[in-house]
Amino acid sequence: MNKSVGQQALVSGFSKKTKAEKIAWISAQFANPQQATELLETYTHPDPNVQNLHDDFIENAVANFYLPLGVAPNVIINGKTLTIPMAIEESSVIAAASNAAKFWADKGGFTAEILGTEKVGQVHFIFEGNPAKLQTFFDTHQSDLLKSTDDITKNMRARGGGITALTLANKTALLEGYFQLDVRFDTKNAMGANFINSCLEQLATTLRELALEYEAFSQEEKEIEIVMSILSNHVPNCLVQASVSCPVDSLLATPEESQLFAEKFVQAVRIAEVEPYRAVTHNKGIMNGIDAVVIASGNDFRAVAAGVHAYAAASGQYHSLSRAEIKEGVFHFSLTLPLAIGTVGGLTKLHPLVQWSHELMGFPNAEELMQIIAVAGLAQNFAAVKSLVTTGIQQGHMKMHLLNILNQLGATETEKKAIIKYFIKNTVSHHAVVEALEKLRAE
Ligand code: MEV
Repeated sequence: MNKSVGQQALVSGFSKKTKAEKIAWISAQFANPQQATELLETYTHPDPNVQNLHDDFIENAVANFYLPLGVAPNVIINGKTLTIPMAIEESSVIAAASNAAKFWADKGGFTAEILGTEKVGQVHFIFEGNPAKLQTFFDTHQSDLLKSTDDITKNMRARGGGITALTLANKTALLEGYFQLDVRFDTKNAMGANFINSCLEQLATTLRELALEYEAFSQEEKEIEIVMSILSNHVPNCLVQASVSCPVDSLLATPEESQLFAEKFVQAVRIAEVEPYRAVTHNKGIMNGIDAVVIASGNDFRAVAAGVHAYAAASGQYHSLSRAEIKEGVFHFSLTLPLAIGTVGGLTKLHPLVQWSHELMGFPNAEELMQIIAVAGLAQNFAAVKSLVTTGIQQGHMKMHLLNILNQLGATETEKKAIIKYFIKNTVSHHAVVEALEKLRAE
């Protein structure tokens, strides 16, 4: 048992300790220090070169925290067949994505398109003066501001990207004296966080310097107070859409079954459009697919999640990211969401499994990866809603969860085989698995 919260002594200079010293200090906090150390060792790569690479990603690394990496094959996107890498711990996610991929492969697969790639950043500052004078100052110096970022944007411009817009935003209706430099970017194949933040910090410095020299400003007006310079993870114009469609009649085995299914499916998605409680869970199912590919492709899933949920709530009410309808006998299902991701920079070249994932996907560029990720989200959403409006979610979910329960109960490989066979025809629940295992052991 661990010691209770708040009993640990404060430690100084922890980050300066060697890894072995850190592990010794941490393990001493456990009731069984040796066991705690051994566990960390089990989750440490035996090849120091591999381990050092991972240790260098973060500060105070003591071990690796594994997530399974799986794949969903047979995903057809815009006519091309793909196997998608997914890093996720939830047992039913990859099975669901694979099922949906197979289901739609027979019907021509998924279509995906990019609706925009604009990234956003802001310099937030306080100006306690005349807003009209500030606007004139900005108009006079807009090109100087941009010019000051030339060195930073040079390579990006050579690749066709860079700063696409720079405006002054008056936010004083929200907060006294609050203004922004609102900056729009095209970061090509990079997610662009470092690039954007570097540009913004340079713009902030130049803004302050130019204001200090601007003769039309009073002394107080010259003292622009920079509060912060940072990209925004709200990227409503960095959008991708994935969709599927097919004649209603060909959805399931018979036209009657298909019609009923399509209507119920559309109804379920409408509920998620109007009812936030359902929308959050509906979108969580979408994120099961999105996050898994975002992680496997070495992208920042927190940034993606923040942007996606902000987009889902952009109207003032949180709603479903996907839409479904039946039009002239055709079933249409689509997902639109913002995805600020990259295929260069960050972890993409550093993590060998990320490189592996990119190769598996045929080294997509950022727009292609946006499409792949959106399709994974739509596939996931389709599988979840299909289960919900037909068998219910637990049947498939618990079947996939069976191995977790068996592992928790310490079942041997032989026991696992026998129990899995037994549950092909029986309903899985924790209680039922315990009973079946006890019965098997008694035999
Ligand atoms: C579980 O991880 C995800 C679902 O709850 C999604 C949904 O309800 O649509 C099954």
